[in-house]
Amino acid sequence: MDNDIERVLYSEETIKEACQRLGHQMAHDYQDKNPIIVGVLKGAVLFMTDVIREMDILAELDFIDVSSYNGGTASSGEVKLVHDLSIDVADRDIILVEDIIDTGRTLKFMQDLLKERHAHSIKVCTLLDKPSGRVVEAKADYVGFIVPNEFVVGYGLDYGDQYRNLPYVGVLKPEIYENK
Ligand code: XMP
Ligand code: MG
Repeated sequence: MDNDIERVLYSEETIKEACQRLGHQMAHDYQDKNPIIVGVLKGAVLFMTDVIREMDILAELDFIDVSSYNGGTASSGEVKLVHDLSIDVADRDIILVEDIIDTGRTLKFMQDLLKERHAHSIKVCTLLDKPSGRVVEAKADYVGFIVPNEFVVGYGLDYGDQYRNLPYVGVLKPEIYENK
């Protein structure tokens, strides 16, 4: 798997530091709020499980699955709800945990959904932010790293549902997707 990576952008150590920084900040901001921390499947699973271990506060966990990418490297533009939350969000403080915000469409879709359901507040924590990819307005409140305009994989991020289990984030060799 390592052989398919052109270069490492964020090492395990660098990611760990980001999880500590973001986790401690959120724990401070959400003390006594009992937030619902929502992981966006599947990409945010690794990041979520690491970041919540840095948060010494009471919180509930839930998951949502929305899809727009169909496994390729470009957004299809359409966002679908694949798996819904199990907890009622009305009057609750929500932290959405994402792997990456690129076009912003996925985030916008989830924020609209949570607003319709009368969440009390919605904030966004993302491992990666790719502002150069924005198509719709979308802003994260807690950001690990700002990434360049490249397709990245690892630490939850996939290409064709693979590479999610790499412990770091890297750039795929172009021949991997050019050969498909
Ligand atoms: P949007 O474009 O809606 O994208 O902000 C959010 C979702 O798209 C996926 N995504 C990526 N996945 N490498 C990936 O592995 C990337 O560079 C990339 N850009 C977007 C991701 O699942 C995210 O939740
Ligand atoms: Mg994905």
